[in-house]
Amino acid sequence: MRLANKVAIITGAGSGIGRASAYVFAREGARIAVADIDDAGGEETVAAIKADDGDAIFVHTDVSKASEIANLVKVTGDKFGKIDIFFNNAGAFEGDICEVLEEEVWDRVYAVDVKSIFFSAKYAAPEMRKTGGGVIINTASNSVNNPTPGMCCYISAKGAVIALTKVLAVELAPDNIRVNCVSPSLTDTGIVDRIKADSVSAEWLNAMVSRFPLEKRLIKPEEIAHAALYLASDEASMTTGINLIVDGGSGI
Ligand SMILES: NC(=O)c1ccc[n+]([C@@H]2O[C@H](COP(=O)([O-])OP(=O)(O)OC[C@H]3O[C@@H](n4cnc5c(N)ncnc54)[C@H](O)[C@@H]3O)[C@@H](O)[C@H]2O)c1
Repeated sequence: MRLANKVAIITGAGSGIGRASAYVFAREGARIAVADIDDAGGEETVAAIKADDGDAIFVHTDVSKASEIANLVKVTGDKFGKIDIFFNNAGAFEGDICEVLEEEVWDRVYAVDVKSIFFSAKYAAPEMRKTGGGVIINTASNSVNNPTPGMCCYISAKGAVIALTKVLAVELAPDNIRVNCVSPSLTDTGIVDRIKADSVSAEWLNAMVSRFPLEKRLIKPEEIAHAALYLASDEASMTTGINLIVDGGSGI
């Protein structure tokens, strides 16, 4: 098993990519701390892992709050004895064109998507150092390379995730803590369900998917989870500071 004896925190694991990653990591031997603001979704992920003979706990966590990330790290350490992997997957997907965007939306998106990563390094890196190293995985988005109008705060926040990943990689390398990010393109989760709900954006989505050279379909959450699995595993022992794009060859 590729994550035997590892302990992994996964944020936003109450649905979508985070839940798929929790399942994949657990099947590879990791004990999982499922963190989310959605208690029902988080508990469902934990129940499914346990039903599959895995080990997991749910820790209610709003990743935009320093105190809640500090609590997540403490509860996980108390329960499982250490932290090897911190997957910053939770994300806020909101936006509008800059002219009408409310400042509070900008601040919320940056807090959930970017500041949370700073908190994970601040609170989890000292714990990882105690056991000789660890892995932080962040979630950016390939929308950074193909910006669409109306998403100025989300896309710029994800650009910041890529930059923050590179800085943390060099900052934490002396402690044997690897820091990488994964950049999904359109993946079939709740985010895409919200795009499908509106007829104009649904049409845009179909046009985008038709540009995927591989199979002309949305990416499955498990396909992002497996990219994260590689970054989390010892197979990636000399990989740090990278942005692993999973876009089905679409460039979008
Ligand atoms: N689905 C896509 O097409 C796509 C593309 C590029 C990047 N991403 C990124 O992938 C990540 C996962 O998204 P997803 O597609 O699985 O979406 P999703 O909506 O299915 O899951 C997001 C999860 O994050 C949780 N969450 C939201 N705010 C939170 C907070 N403040 N604290 C803790 N948990 C919180 C939600 O409750 C939810 O369970 C996000 O960072 C997203 O930006 C997704």
